[in-house]
Amino acid sequence: MSDSDSNTVDVKRRRMLIAATSVVGAAGTAAFATPLLISWMPSARAKAAGAPIEVNISKIEPGQLVRVIWRGKPIWLVKRTDQMLKDLPSNDTLLVDPESTVDTQQPEYTKNKTRSRKPEMLVLIGICTHLGCSPTYRPEVAPADLGADWKGGFYCPCHGSRFDLAGRVFKNVPAPTNLVVPPHFYKTDDVLRIGEDGGAA
Ligand code: FES
Repeated sequence: MSDSDSNTVDVKRRRMLIAATSVVGAAGTAAFATPLLISWMPSARAKAAGAPIEVNISKIEPGQLVRVIWRGKPIWLVKRTDQMLKDLPSNDTLLVDPESTVDTQQPEYTKNKTRSRKPEMLVLIGICTHLGCSPTYRPEVAPADLGADWKGGFYCPCHGSRFDLAGRVFKNVPAPTNLVVPPHFYKTDDVLRIGEDGGAA
């Protein structure tokens, strides 16, 4: 291989590494760095038109959030732990819409206690329903800055909106509604298809 060939390979590899290690997060959240999963994307033109994407979720660890992009929007995939699921109902009295009654915020098949098709797997559009910032994943319980009642969730740094680990908005924050659950279904146990309902729930 010539020098210029190996330089080209080197640059390509570096670009791949950068793409594979993109993270979302803010100061103080390094422990919860969120890798950008490489989804099986359709062509660029189909993508721009909003084609569905497929993601292999088999490597997501309990408690981890990973991010993919669909229709140019961040999609969060969070594999909730048993404890996270157990803690969800304790938020209900603190929430604006604990029963997910606002139809625009989720498909019918996720109008349930966990706002998901599979209890452990949360799928959300990661855009704040106030003015569109992307909230930060804060899975810790009772961190000093979020208070003793905090059971894990999402915090929007722009104006302080808070959401629980089902994307349900807390009272007394600027965001009016729960985070949006995009259409999705499980093609197999490991393959999640985002952008289509996949028939009945
Ligand atoms: S954009 Fe999130 S609180 Fe305003």
